[in-house]
Amino acid sequence: MAFPESFLQELKMRNDITEIVSAYVGLKRRGRNMVGLCPFHGEKTPSFNVYTENGSFYCFGCGVGGDVITFIMKIENLDYVEAVKFLAQRAGMNVPENSYDDSMSKLRTRIFEANREAARFYYATLQTPQGAVGLEYLHRRALSDRTIRHFGLGFADNDWTSLCRHLYDKGFRDDEIVAANLGVRRRNGGGIYDRFTNRVMFPIIDLRGNVVAFGGRIMTDEKPKYLNTSDTPVFKKSTNLFSLNNAKNSGSRTLILCEGYMDVITLNQAGFTNAVATLGTALTSEQAMLMKRYADEIVICYDSDEAGQKATARAISILRNAGVLIRVLSVPSGKDPDEFIKSKGKDGPAAFKAIIEKSGNDVEYRLSKLRQLYNAETTDGKVAYLNEAARVVSTISSPIERDVYATKICNELGIDKGAFNQQMSRILHSSNREAAKKEIRQIQTDLSGRNDKINTEHYKKPRSSSAEEALVVYLINNSDCANEISEKVKPEQFQNLFIRRYYEYVLNRIENGLEPLTNLAADFTADEVSKLYELMSRSIPAASNTDAMREYIKVINEESTKLTADDVKSLSDEELKVYIDKIRKNKQ
Ligand code: UTP
Ligand code: MN
Repeated sequence: MAFPESFLQELKMRNDITEIVSAYVGLKRRGRNMVGLCPFHGEKTPSFNVYTENGSFYCFGCGVGGDVITFIMKIENLDYVEAVKFLAQRAGMNVPENSYDDSMSKLRTRIFEANREAARFYYATLQTPQGAVGLEYLHRRALSDRTIRHFGLGFADNDWTSLCRHLYDKGFRDDEIVAANLGVRRRNGGGIYDRFTNRVMFPIIDLRGNVVAFGGRIMTDEKPKYLNTSDTPVFKKSTNLFSLNNAKNSGSRTLILCEGYMDVITLNQAGFTNAVATLGTALTSEQAMLMKRYADEIVICYDSDEAGQKATARAISILRNAGVLIRVLSVPSGKDPDEFIKSKGKDGPAAFKAIIEKSGNDVEYRLSKLRQLYNAETTDGKVAYLNEAARVVSTISSPIERDVYATKICNELGIDKGAFNQQMSRILHSSNREAAKKEIRQIQTDLSGRNDKINTEHYKKPRSSSAEEALVVYLINNSDCANEISEKVKPEQFQNLFIRRYYEYVLNRIENGLEPLTNLAADFTADEVSKLYELMSRSIPAASNTDAMREYIKVINEESTKLTADDVKSLSDEELKVYIDKIRKNKQ
């Protein structure tokens, strides 16, 4: 089942891709396209293209592409049906009921409802005798009732089935509770039991206000300290941030990035509502891109232990790639922000504000780490420090900024700036060369298709695949040639089975009088959609040149009659003779 064709066409017409994308990406005209900085990966020069003519987009940097529906799916984190509904609502259109398979959307809605119900239940439990230990624990950690309510903190009691029973009463079924990861199936097949028991509960809320997951903290030293919802149809750890729903309304274009739930909550209580945390995983580039939508500057505020410092180094490089300003805050004396603020009692907020103001940018942070590492009193230490410092400073792209640091470092150590600059230009020169080499290698692998995870057969059969890909693109752009093409090339002749699927799909749609790509996202995965738009935007030669088309057809015909060495071995003498005759004929 799918949405009616006419509905989708109108939907696309009423949701102009340029207008939609512009709400998320600053676009500039370049020739016939619009370009901007890709919202899906970090970049400094724009490679994200919007093609107004055919209502599509494609990023040459990260290879994501599609139409307006695919764009909304990706940027708003929605499934296909939800994205269609989103766009319909925006354009004031009614979605035809029962015309589509929305079982996945229905399940997602049920999971949101179950999560909301669970959050209410956990919150209510805090006020019952079974929940008293939880409430006591939260109070002991200096959280006020107001904060507890604001974050909807709760308690999962030690009964093992109380949540499941509560959800049954509210009409939820086993499969829904398990899909939400609120319940777990018993090994022996006899029903389900609660996923979270005897923990204080932290609901994780997405940007639309849906409860998408939970973190649960045990109140003793047992492990794991925190148990989190596994990935579900509504939740992916690596693309969500705790409390971004609050932070986005903080009125600030700065975000404070912490390690833990408790840090974020304590910071909120102290008035820093722009704090967020990753959910028990290292920072991902998706999370960095998400933060970038709400912030120009990120203050990394990880624990001061070794693990926290390692994570800081990693976060710096990810955030740099995303292209945001970075500051690194070091919390004094072995503490995380939560402990720091509490240790200062009443003065907590002011004290934290002071260390934020003192925090340096990522370069300053890295230089101070180096200073701790090397003893600049000794000659060896000084040389090593200067070499490493030149390396750090040379990563700065602004020459003025580079000079400021060079001057500072040289004054500090009493050395000649000329020598330092010389060292930096040597590093710059060789890292430019390295970068260029790397880029060439990357282009070569891309061209060979060796690393193509979607179109995996291209690499094995480059000649036939190239022709097949080009023919599909040609067909999409010239549907009036469908008859001629389909007569000369049967789908079975496609050697690349993946490209053959596009061919069959597009041909079939044209033969039924439909636009070739209107409904693509319903039938292909997001990556497959991107791949097709990649082929289309790679300006395959001669977009509407009939000679080129005949050439593609000729190559496909030739390649489809070729046999592999193994095939040839298994032929009988008679078959071999027929085959050789056929090749001879092709050659003429
Ligand atoms: P921490 O152990 O530093 O958390 O882990 P914290 O917030 O300071 O913990 P307490 O409550 O104050 O002692 C940082 C984050 O890593 C994730 C959680 O998201 C936690 O907030 N984590 C940690 C887990 O997911 N599982 C664990 O077992 C431990
Ligand atoms: Mn802590």
